[in-house]
Amino acid sequence: MDKFVIEGPTPLRGNIAISGSKNAALPLMAAALLADSPTTINNVPRLRDIYTFNNVIRVTGAHVEFDEENNRLHIDPTHINHLQAPYELVRKMRASFYMLGALLGRFGEAKVSLPGGCAWGPRPVDLHLKGMKAMGAEIELDKGYVLGKAKNRLPGGTFKLEPSSVGATVNLLLASVLKAEEFTIENAAIEPDVTLLANTLNRMGANIEGIGTDRLTIRQTEKLQGLEVDNAPDRIETGTYMIAAAMHPESELTITNTDPSDLGTFPGSFRKIGARVDINDTEIYVKAPQKLNPISIKTKVYPGFPTDLQAQWATMMTQAPGRSVITDTIYFDRFSYVPELNRLGADLEVNENSVTVNGRTPLEGASVMSTDLRASVSLVLAGMVAEGTSDILRIYHLDRGYEQLEKKLNSVGASITRTEQEE
Ligand code: UD1
Repeated sequence: MDKFVIEGPTPLRGNIAISGSKNAALPLMAAALLADSPTTINNVPRLRDIYTFNNVIRVTGAHVEFDEENNRLHIDPTHINHLQAPYELVRKMRASFYMLGALLGRFGEAKVSLPGGCAWGPRPVDLHLKGMKAMGAEIELDKGYVLGKAKNRLPGGTFKLEPSSVGATVNLLLASVLKAEEFTIENAAIEPDVTLLANTLNRMGANIEGIGTDRLTIRQTEKLQGLEVDNAPDRIETGTYMIAAAMHPESELTITNTDPSDLGTFPGSFRKIGARVDINDTEIYVKAPQKLNPISIKTKVYPGFPTDLQAQWATMMTQAPGRSVITDTIYFDRFSYVPELNRLGADLEVNENSVTVNGRTPLEGASVMSTDLRASVSLVLAGMVAEGTSDILRIYHLDRGYEQLEKKLNSVGASITRTEQEE
């Protein structure tokens, strides 16, 4: 197991290029399985979750080739003969559950493990299953596995997602495009990852109406063809580096290869902290303010403030003089980073689904533990402004979702060393 040793504080100055989005790539990879011919996805990040999903896909007999040097992923679905996704792989990454929609949608049959627990409380998949049933598929549970069956032509109907769910919208799109006569998803997720998937499915031959809105209507298509598609830049990585740029008064970063139009209301919230932010088509320049304003936020579905950036925001707020409150309305228990930040000298207090940050507290290097992907990156952000040496243990979480994190940050002035963590 690896850990990071971070020496701080260090201002950050220079350019950071954004990688392809993990959460956008995974649905595209699942969609490739619906086609009769191979697909190439460009701008796929070299991340542990992508490697895991490659292995999940390989179990089916599909060929997967990752040209890592060029971030190009080739998926040939023409040899699929094993319609299963086993627990050993699905438990490593929840999005493997997209295999249910993909296999059921293409072959009318699937045996996919339930994803199991999660580091930040219960994350059910009931809506995925109810939606497939509403479409006319047969869904049964057997010893931790979902057994799905679907005839060649399902009646479809209408299903309302309550609450709106990215994963359920993706799975229902995958399951329905080849199978459901006419199926409407109400309160569908409108996250850019879903929009990219729906547009890509239409380019493959699907018939999805209402893309970009929360009401998607799918009408059955006979066949889909593989294609070449460009994955989107990672909007959460973009937001994370914008926050990194604001945390030290001498920092200024230009974030390149990004898509600012995917950030929803985030840049608006971000400007309120007092940073200078210049945005053009593919770049965002951030100059840290001399003094950060304490700004409270509430996570919401897109285009609102993303839950995947709340831990980073709370970390930034430790450096703002005053009180701010971060409320997560999507996940009620996503604060495992709080005791670790307090160990570095921060003053955070959790109350139900909110955390109150009392700033500004100087941070001091200490040993802290990563608990999940976004919590881990928050500890790195804190370590870069803390005085002295911080050890961030269990950074394997980071390798799930941030491509070349320490390389990118070191290239703009950070001092982060990856070493082996003694047990
Ligand atoms: C995706 C993202 C994750 C992000 C989250 C919210 C991927 C791989 N992951 O996760 O990084 O934090 O969106 O933006 O894209 N829910 C149910 N029943 C269900 C499904 C969801 O009650 O069947 C609830 C969840 O508990 C949660 C809310 O719906 O409260 C939203 O979750 P969802 O959008 O499904 O998140 P994921 O797709 O799992």
